[in-house]
Amino acid sequence: MVVKLELRNVTKSYGKTKVINDLSISIEAGEFFVVLGPSGTGKSTLLKLIVGIEQPDSGKILIDGKDVTRLPPNKRNLAMVFQNYALYPNMTVYQNIAFPLKMHRIRNIPEKVRSIADKLNIGEILSKKVTQISGGQQQRVALARAIVRNPTLFLLDEPLSNLDARVRYSARGELKKLQQDLHQTFVFVTHDQKEAEALGDRVGVLHQGTFEQISSYNDLYNDPKTPWIGDFVGDYPMNFVGSKGFRPEWVELGQGEYKLEIDSSENVGGIYFIHGKTDDGESLILKADRRYKIGEQIRFSISKFKQFEASV
Ligand SMILES: Nc1ncnc2c1ncn2[C@@H]1O[C@H](COP(=O)(O)OP(=O)(O)OP(=O)(O)O)[C@@H](O)[C@H]1O
Ligand SMILES: [Mg+2]
Repeated sequence: MVVKLELRNVTKSYGKTKVINDLSISIEAGEFFVVLGPSGTGKSTLLKLIVGIEQPDSGKILIDGKDVTRLPPNKRNLAMVFQNYALYPNMTVYQNIAFPLKMHRIRNIPEKVRSIADKLNIGEILSKKVTQISGGQQQRVALARAIVRNPTLFLLDEPLSNLDARVRYSARGELKKLQQDLHQTFVFVTHDQKEAEALGDRVGVLHQGTFEQISSYNDLYNDPKTPWIGDFVGDYPMNFVGSKGFRPEWVELGQGEYKLEIDSSENVGGIYFIHGKTDDGESLILKADRRYKIGEQIRFSISKFKQFEASV
């Protein structure tokens, strides 16, 4: 079974702070949906509401059309991998994975644990304590523990954030493959843009308690709905001149109606990015094919831009 997830006008406050504000979303069955947003924007809160460990102040949560808003977490058949994995430190890998099966008095536990451990490449370390394995392995154990009960909805809260860059890269690929193998619905929280780009069928950008834009990562980058999205998405923020937004690479250097005085240049993998100011004092970052000297003035034209309604 593959399930659809809907949130309708969900609001959640902690004290006077409205963390989630009238948020609605419909996530398709089998979709890999990424929630992207800066720290403290309510990403974990959103997952806790879906999983049922927090209750919304108002609004509804539906799984496959069924209202689960007041159901306890164990009646929702979903799995959550927490930001810090929340593994049981005194238990072995095997005991950690077996734990939810024991809790629910499920039969054939050894076979089930073995099968999921093999799938995630941790079959060799089942007898180790979780404190004695690497971060990447811990992440797989947390995933295995979540998957072992065959949930129909996966909620993953920055599960790769503790891994170093290399491991993270391969873990990302494995996770995408796993989702395709399981053919289940995933909601994946991250503040990492590369992860959002690599994993998300759609990416929802959380800002001020709601999704400011929901689209492919490509559209977030090339066609941001608001200046805030343009600024937040991308390795570099979008540049703004008046109500025109443009990416560092959407320019031609050498001649044109605009002038930039260079503050600094940086070289990123053979590509140069120059930082500078226009005559009007706007700070811009442009892509270039060579280094420029500090204080040098260059002219440029904008070859493509995104028109926003008001001047930014
Ligand atoms: N139990 C709580 N009681 C009071 N305030 C809370 C509680 N949990 C979260 N908050 C507040 O709600 C806001 C959103 O927190 P949340 O953990 O959802 O953010 P996040 O987007 O997951 O951040 P991060 O990327 O740092 O994990 C924060 O301002 C946080 O301080
Ligand atoms: Mg969080």
